[in-house]
Amino acid sequence: MKIALGVTGGVAAYKAAELVRRLQQEKLDVQVVMTRSAQEFITPLTFAALTGKKVITEMFGERDASPANVESAIEHIAVAQRIDLLLVAPATADILGHFAHGIAGDFLTTLYLATKAPVVVAPAMNVNMWEHPATQSNLAALRARGVHVVDPDEGYLACGMTGAGRLAATEAIAKKVLSVLGLRHDLEGQSVLVTAGPTCEDLDPVRFLTNRSSGKMGYAIADASVRRGAHVILVSGPTDLRIPESVDWVPVRTTEEMRTAVLERCGEANIVIMAAAVADYRPAASQAQKLKRGDAGLTIELEPTPDILAQLGGNKGGRTIVGFAAETERIAENARAKLQRKGADIIVANDVTQEGAGFDTDTNIVTLFLRDGREIPLPKLSKFDVANRILDQILTLRAS
Ligand code: CTP
Repeated sequence: MKIALGVTGGVAAYKAAELVRRLQQEKLDVQVVMTRSAQEFITPLTFAALTGKKVITEMFGERDASPANVESAIEHIAVAQRIDLLLVAPATADILGHFAHGIAGDFLTTLYLATKAPVVVAPAMNVNMWEHPATQSNLAALRARGVHVVDPDEGYLACGMTGAGRLAATEAIAKKVLSVLGLRHDLEGQSVLVTAGPTCEDLDPVRFLTNRSSGKMGYAIADASVRRGAHVILVSGPTDLRIPESVDWVPVRTTEEMRTAVLERCGEANIVIMAAAVADYRPAASQAQKLKRGDAGLTIELEPTPDILAQLGGNKGGRTIVGFAAETERIAENARAKLQRKGADIIVANDVTQEGAGFDTDTNIVTLFLRDGREIPLPKLSKFDVANRILDQILTLRAS
């Protein structure tokens, strides 16, 4: 994965060199961007030697219209699109102010506005500057916008004062970066079975019943689990999604096929997450030939499909089982009933009528319902972040 490390002008700039090394140990590809004042503290040469890459120090090169210069003028857009994360360490009060107010005068500030990648800042400054209401309000604005802040440590500062403002430890910054990128390895040795997507029930050879599930939530869970070191079996109904790398992918179409696959493979898993939107009914009789059009109305008899989750919940063994509940009303009441009825450890419930939740969106707004009565509402997050929060909760339950 690729990250841009913005280094800004503070005494702690030298610590960014050690940070580069630490991030490289995690196989991250680091591109360093320095502000002008950072170069007063440490030279670009140090970072160029460590990364083997040209350090970006200028927005524009020479004042000419040569192709190379035009290229460098739009480089911030290319870098912005290429990176998986922007880290600024150390981050001065000045850069936080620029970010908070969207003032883009140099490469780093422009990169911040141009990228859609997550942003992590590790501030370092004099204690009075840190505590100043202007700095704190800029930080609050950035946090509200989803920027991750690694708070500075307290201690003896370069200015001779003591207090908060010392750049956080390299390890704390690296840990935050890995966690935001979903690169923790806390699921090593665990085997996760995930169901995803819709199921389809045939009416005749050309028509079927299905639902609006895109599979995005289940695929995000599979992806996040693999990144955290788990072995993943992904039992998937039909979707248009890219199969996440390194998952054991089991394509299915009907509820019966999903049930067979889940029952066959669940013996390998100690965590089962049923994100699939399984059809609740199927035609009682599937027609071998295409149904012909007629003048009279058509009534199709449906029969219930087997409840895969309930079947698993009744025979849990040592497994942690998570179900989903897509609701349009009385969310908590319905979720609690499903928790009991299906024998799950967690029900992840969402109101699919809410903007930013539910089908075919990249975000979700969910509440986790636990057996001990707790309800954990989560804010609107990307489906990948929701996946990680669910995995965090599973690990907490398994550790208790
Ligand atoms: N589920 C399942 N097998 C089914 C139906 C649902 O395993 N035949 C699982 C889903 O994967 C999900 C959970 O059960 O994890 C809840 O699904 P949902 O459709 O919300 O619940 P239902 O029991 O179908 O209840 P209702 O449709 O009445 O809300």
